[in-house]
Amino acid sequence: MQLDKKNIPQHVAIIMDGNGRWAKKQGMMRLFGHQAGVETVKKIVEAARETGISVLTLYAFSTENWKRPADEVSGLMSLLKTYLKSELANMLKNDVQLRSIGQLENLPVEVRQVLEQSITETADNKGLILNLALSYGGRIEIISVAGQLAELCLKGELKPEEIDEKIFSSKLYTAGLPDPDLLIRTGGEARLSNFLLWQASYAEIYFTETAWPDFTKDDLINAVTSFQQRQRRFGRTGDQVAEK
Ligand code: FPP
Repeated sequence: MQLDKKNIPQHVAIIMDGNGRWAKKQGMMRLFGHQAGVETVKKIVEAARETGISVLTLYAFSTENWKRPADEVSGLMSLLKTYLKSELANMLKNDVQLRSIGQLENLPVEVRQVLEQSITETADNKGLILNLALSYGGRIEIISVAGQLAELCLKGELKPEEIDEKIFSSKLYTAGLPDPDLLIRTGGEARLSNFLLWQASYAEIYFTETAWPDFTKDDLINAVTSFQQRQRRFGRTGDQVAEK
């Protein structure tokens, strides 16, 4: 199946699952799987750029992941810091703009610092937007929007009846970004795990058995090709969409 260059999903979001099991299969520690996962991140960022994807959101650490064993959490934070430090030059060279969504205030200060520095230094880049979900949870994001809107109402700056999808979306971490068109989950599980709960309402979802460390550019292209074969109806009938 050929890739249709005129129908590339604008925003692709990925749940990078399967690192731990991939490592365990080889008799290695889970962190070995996360290390391999970082190499996949580098390859897929490059592949997304080459494919013409505009926004790539990667679920790197969830609000629930803090409950993992302390050494795995600190190992992941350390990998993140090293990745950000070592990839900044590449991001600048390849016109990648870094962004991040989540409860960033909960990240260790040294991770936050490199993250903020990379976000600032790449802010004017116009190529791929690489959006890292860190300490991210969809429910807490929605709760935070509810709180912000309630406060505006209390201050008399907003009326409850004025609240609509547009205002709601403007308070999400992803404000200004298009909703994901395609959501990929690697590693064989078929669930959303609290990822982009609001934003993924109309995303096409693609599950693959392939563990994240084994995920390649060809796998990304297969996911995009599968997306291109689907008819996005947004609540309409198939005939209505075909007539358009
Ligand atoms: C899920 O696999 C993966 C994570 C919780 C972490 C993902 C992190 C990386 C790929 C590396 C760091 C990211 C960046 C952006 C540099 P799992 O450990 O739950 O796998 P399992 O289901 O097989 O146990």
